Amino acid sequence: MQQTDVLIVGSGIAALAVAYYICEELNVMIVTKGSVTDGNSSLAQGGIAAALSEKDSWMLHCEDTIQAGDGHTNPHAAKQLTEEGNKILLNLLRDGLPADRAENGALKLGMEGAHRLNRIVHAGGDETGKAMVRFLAQGVNGKVSMYEQTMVTELLVRENTCYGVRVLNADGNTEVIYASAVILAAGGCGTLYRHTSNHRNCTADGIALAYRAGAILTDMEFVQFHPTMLYTAGSVKGLVSEAVRGEGAFLQNSRGEKIMENVHPLADLAPRDVVSREIFRSIQQGESIFLNIKSIPQFKKRFPGISRMCEKNGIRLQDGLIPVMPGMHFFMGGIKTDLNGRTSVNRLYAAGEAACTGVHGANRLASNSLLEGLVFGKKIAEDVKTIEAQEDVPSFKKERPPAYTVTKQDVADMMERFAGIERNEEGLRQLIEWFQDAQQKSGQAEELSPGIFEMANMMTAGELIARAAWQRTESRGCHFRSDFPYKEAAWKRKELLWKTNKPAL
Ligand code: SIN
Repeated sequence: MQQTDVLIVGSGIAALAVAYYICEELNVMIVTKGSVTDGNSSLAQGGIAAALSEKDSWMLHCEDTIQAGDGHTNPHAAKQLTEEGNKILLNLLRDGLPADRAENGALKLGMEGAHRLNRIVHAGGDETGKAMVRFLAQGVNGKVSMYEQTMVTELLVRENTCYGVRVLNADGNTEVIYASAVILAAGGCGTLYRHTSNHRNCTADGIALAYRAGAILTDMEFVQFHPTMLYTAGSVKGLVSEAVRGEGAFLQNSRGEKIMENVHPLADLAPRDVVSREIFRSIQQGESIFLNIKSIPQFKKRFPGISRMCEKNGIRLQDGLIPVMPGMHFFMGGIKTDLNGRTSVNRLYAAGEAACTGVHGANRLASNSLLEGLVFGKKIAEDVKTIEAQEDVPSFKKERPPAYTVTKQDVADMMERFAGIERNEEGLRQLIEWFQDAQQKSGQAEELSPGIFEMANMMTAGELIARAAWQRTESRGCHFRSDFPYKEAAWKRKELLWKTNKPAL
């Protein structure tokens, strides 16, 4: 049995930010299912939004964040994100966080959808996430205990207090680790969908662990679809950053017609939900959609990662057209937290994509997710220092996960079909019934493997997304109901909360 002050689940920006700001003062353990660089943070291309230009201010960034959230944003969270985010980013840049700069040393600030000004800081052209993960991981190196290839399978919760976790370690053995505080920063749930930009490890682990332990979840219906994933041979191959449109690319159909003209005043740089729906509808009508990149000088230099991905998949960049389609990108919902990252369970925190402060509302503004990880990660680091060590730790009985007859691929196909960009009552009802049927036919797993737990997590989160999408009888942000295509005043800032009726003892 091991013990630590702070146990962090996950190793993306939010996880590393918590560790970065407390590792000198407390014993910190990071437990991550893959290796540190696996996950969505390392894949993040676009960058990190902050109002660093002279023309800009955090108030303008805050307004854009709220505007993109479509009447569902928590304004206090948006203020914290943008005001504190500016200061944190400036300090990190001073501490050596890499960023792309002009010859005179000024930051190169890019443009992305629904931002009114250039404010996207990037590194390595389109490899910002990788650079940030590397920087923070180096900052905590040697100061935290790092357990890779180790999956948290259970939160040890009794009487609404978290005492630690049970893990399945790299040797396939289970083990208990007690902690005075547990931080869930295990990322999102992109693998719930067939077409996604997410890393394959994003299987809703933190969200499902928290739910099973009795924590409150919220905003489960809000799933963001990024408009432009590279699409070839019937599947998506990865993200083509919104920064590409920020540099002047536009969306066209096979006849060369610009599809975003007359759809939204911001055209190709309209909020993501608007652009994704337009592409989705065009594709439904049999169209092929392309990003026209002909006007971008030195495309390969500005976007080295995207260029490599395109070339690997046989796209001739010199032709200037990248075939695209939307795919699941970001989950706005998750474990409900306050502005210090506290969940509804004592000593349990959540940060990053697994968490929901309401900062993104119904639709996240581009390049606000890395910033969220830094800002709320730092807040948790400050709050967790006030927590006292646990005494009288109880013992816990091991849970056995369910075994299903359906597969992860089945879940992804069903979610794509019925809880995707456009939803309706009939489809969502079918989806909920499918989950119920699969639950009824499930047995108990004989052998424990990461895949068994991932599947259980996907089933838990997928069903909650379906139920939430079914209950919200309006369209807002990225939640679009074709049978209720308008926003309803009665739903404004109304949250659907989810708590298991089988709470931990
Ligand atoms: C992108 O580069 O388009 C994605 C960045 C983000 O999701 O904020």
